[in-house]
Amino acid sequence: MSIQDQQTKLTIGLFGFGVVGEGLYKVLAHTPTLNAQIKKVCIRQADKERNAPSELFTTDADLLLNDPEINVIVELIDDANAAYRIVSKALAGKKAVVSANKRMIAEHLEELIALQSTHDVPFLYEAACCASIPVIRNLEEYYDNDLLQGINGIVNGSTNYILTKVSEEHISFETALRQAQEAGFAESDPSLDVQGIDAVNKLSILLAHAYGIITPPHTVVHTGIHNLHSSDAVFAKEKGYEIKLVAQARKLDDGNIAAFVLPQFIKKNSQLSTVKNEYNGVIIESSLADKQFFYGKGAGGFPTASAVLSDLSALRYHYRYEYKKLRYQTPSLLSNDFYIKVCISFKGLLQVPHERFDKILEWSSNEHRCHVTGIIHFSELVSDLWWKQPDVSIILYPDGIIDGYQPEKKEIKSVEFAELIC
Ligand code: HSE
Repeated sequence: MSIQDQQTKLTIGLFGFGVVGEGLYKVLAHTPTLNAQIKKVCIRQADKERNAPSELFTTDADLLLNDPEINVIVELIDDANAAYRIVSKALAGKKAVVSANKRMIAEHLEELIALQSTHDVPFLYEAACCASIPVIRNLEEYYDNDLLQGINGIVNGSTNYILTKVSEEHISFETALRQAQEAGFAESDPSLDVQGIDAVNKLSILLAHAYGIITPPHTVVHTGIHNLHSSDAVFAKEKGYEIKLVAQARKLDDGNIAAFVLPQFIKKNSQLSTVKNEYNGVIIESSLADKQFFYGKGAGGFPTASAVLSDLSALRYHYRYEYKKLRYQTPSLLSNDFYIKVCISFKGLLQVPHERFDKILEWSSNEHRCHVTGIIHFSELVSDLWWKQPDVSIILYPDGIIDGYQPEKKEIKSVEFAELIC
């Protein structure tokens, strides 16, 4: 029976029984009104002990994908390539799909949109961005492209957890990361979290629903928190800021979109400053309504399972993403033609070519680190990755996207630069 039938029971084939899969299993057991039941769970390791009856499990994916009674595939596995194979096969077999796999979705969004339309089946993935916060559906349904001025969000729970613990409880980066792993917030490869890859995957999904921009995540400028230095936190504190990893997209004066993931100085009175630990927070700015702030748990079994549950519930009333900004409005374009105000912090003078700056506003140095605040054209971050070297960190200032800046074309010679900062 297909998902299109009005009173159809949701018979679920679940892939993955990790933190989220098990969370969903438990939550479904307490949600009888949903009329949804997990028929089979496909797992990779047959011999692992599970908190569910053993007859529920199989290692044979086709048993789920070829079962005509299963009308919904819920994909919650770790491996993005395997997930893509499962999801494409399920959609081609006209099964509705719910997934939380942000990496797989971000990397294959164009193909996944085509598959949904070719086979006329829904594919929902609210859990892929900010777990419990319903940000995708809100961007898709509520905010018109013309009015949407920007999105500013803490979208990775693990890095926010680490930054909170390091700055407030003074524990080490490594200990905080281990805690995030133990709590099930971090990816199985935590470098995806700390290097900003998870955040940029989420940002590229948000760009599709906010602005109709489909772009592979690796094309969006991003970094994480791995290169931040302890003196950066001291520098931030002296200025009354704290540092958060922020994913953002902002409409420029020409209608194009600036988008990136970078560490950012956050003012104490910003809503993002209230986002601690594994919580996520997204500020959506629109022309007439000013700012709205979405806040909630961004990682962990139950918060993610709650978003999967909401997608399952939405399938009952035949909800599907229409990709409105892509189909019915003129999609926006990404642009690198704007300036940013940043602090570049580094160890050795030669690491940071002075000609990257249009203007240097402030500098300081001690035996550990130099901090230079200046204005840089964003394309300087795209052309090569000088700013991603180990021992170089970049931190955006609040309101650090400067649109309409008039360059000074001031030449800063190496020798002046050395004098400036030493
Ligand atoms: N590793 C992710 C995070 C899990 O920390 O946000 C939720 O997507």
